[in-house]
Amino acid sequence: MSPTPNPTIIFVSNPQGVPVPGEDLVYRQDITIDIDNEPLNGGILTKTVALGIDIWVRHRMGYEYKPNTPILGYGIGVVLRSENPKFQVGDHVQAPSYREPFAHYAVLSEATASARVLKNDVGLPWTAYLGVLGLAGETAWVGYKAYAEAKNGETIYVSTGAGTVGSVVCQVAKAEGLRVIASAGSDSKVEFLKEIGVDVAFNYKKQDVGTVLKENGGVDIYWDNVGGKALETVMGCMNKYGRIVICGIASEWNVPPTERHGNKSLVLALAKNLTINGFIITDALAKFGDFNFESEVTRLVEEGKMKVRTETSDKLEDAMKMLVDILLGVNEGKGVIMFS
Ligand SMILES: NC(=O)c1ccc[n+]([C@@H]2O[C@H](COP(=O)([O-])OP(=O)(O)OC[C@H]3O[C@@H](n4cnc5c(N)ncnc54)[C@H](OP(=O)(O)O)[C@@H]3O)[C@@H](O)[C@H]2O)c1
Repeated sequence: MSPTPNPTIIFVSNPQGVPVPGEDLVYRQDITIDIDNEPLNGGILTKTVALGIDIWVRHRMGYEYKPNTPILGYGIGVVLRSENPKFQVGDHVQAPSYREPFAHYAVLSEATASARVLKNDVGLPWTAYLGVLGLAGETAWVGYKAYAEAKNGETIYVSTGAGTVGSVVCQVAKAEGLRVIASAGSDSKVEFLKEIGVDVAFNYKKQDVGTVLKENGGVDIYWDNVGGKALETVMGCMNKYGRIVICGIASEWNVPPTERHGNKSLVLALAKNLTINGFIITDALAKFGDFNFESEVTRLVEEGKMKVRTETSDKLEDAMKMLVDILLGVNEGKGVIMFS
């Protein structure tokens, strides 16, 4: 059989700031694959079904991707050929952490050992497995259960509340009887926060974070998705014995480490007896387990009690713009490329 086109997003170089499509990342349509004869080396060949656009792709540009190789991320593929008895032709498979090439077809050799077959018996859209039931949902669920130490009636503040991680945290906290304050960077995101039951939802570009938090009696738990200046501000609004869960630095991924904001409020951790926990999801999973993430969250999604926003495109080349949009904060939901 003649080679089949395998369009791919290629990493060219690590940018100084926000990556430029066509320069730091390029969409290559000239790449091909021989579907019938490509060596698998004990692995599998998959046709891509969906790819998630994660903010962490930017971070990985700094240390993982090799120039002129495909961007790797989270995705789902359907098995076309298999040399591994764990995977049958037709299975939907998710490669382990950041091993799915941004391409129409992929050979997963080393990665197959820990890839998982997605049964999806309940027939959820595949987008769910890249968002609410994917890395972001798991990060929110496990990080909250492991570190929030939430008590009924307490107040939590969630930054980037309308993103996948943020909205899962908001809904779990609400279900546990907390008062939820959450912020987002657009009015439509704020509307979504209200839809999912957030008690105080506000646009941090229009309202001062410190003022809102103080007006609402301070914060017992801060779920920090943004880092930077906001963390310093929120520390000034924490109640005594509060907990801060550091999950991400969305405001500073494009800022060189030496130019990131220096937190002048750190002394308040002492004065207010604060507990600060940062975590990486893979480490938290190894330490605490997954708190029945898949079964519990699948049930909540099925029952309509766990909602997230998703933006999709059916064009692989759009992945570059969608990544830039996330980095600029102008995305309106979890970005997913759906392949036909
Ligand atoms: N610790 C872990 O293991 C782990 C795992 C997965 C994800 N994370 C982190 O969790 C956080 C949320 O992840 P997610 O997948 O749900 O992403 P996300 O919410 O889609 O992240 C993008 C959002 O970040 C917000 N943002 C805030 N300040 C920004 C700024 N200065 N510039 C650009 N964007 C800004 C924007 O929302 P607004 O419009 O609301 O500003 C933007 O839409 C991220 O920081 C991510 O790195 C951590």
